[in-house]
Amino acid sequence: MIKFNNHKSIPLSESKTLLELAIDHKIELNHSCGGHGTCGTCRVIIDNYEDLPARNAIELEMANDRKFNPNERLACQTITNIQLKVKIP
Ligand code: FES
Repeated sequence: MIKFNNHKSIPLSESKTLLELAIDHKIELNHSCGGHGTCGTCRVIIDNYEDLPARNAIELEMANDRKFNPNERLACQTITNIQLKVKIP
């Protein structure tokens, strides 16, 4: 399950990004570039970020450019099957 801010928990999917899951469940999460990893507006903060898979190349480039903390991830580039608590800043 994934819990976004104060929303109810939603089921995980190994085939969808965190952004796609948020959209599917009508959770408001900005995504100005449409999920292409170029705008940074889908940035979220993950409590248990240590358990996430490594950033892909697209996310890594932005994370380096914008000096993301390790717990800041792009929802549009993150796919996982672990339980998460996600804060939308
Ligand atoms: S939606 Fe633009 S970077 Fe994720």
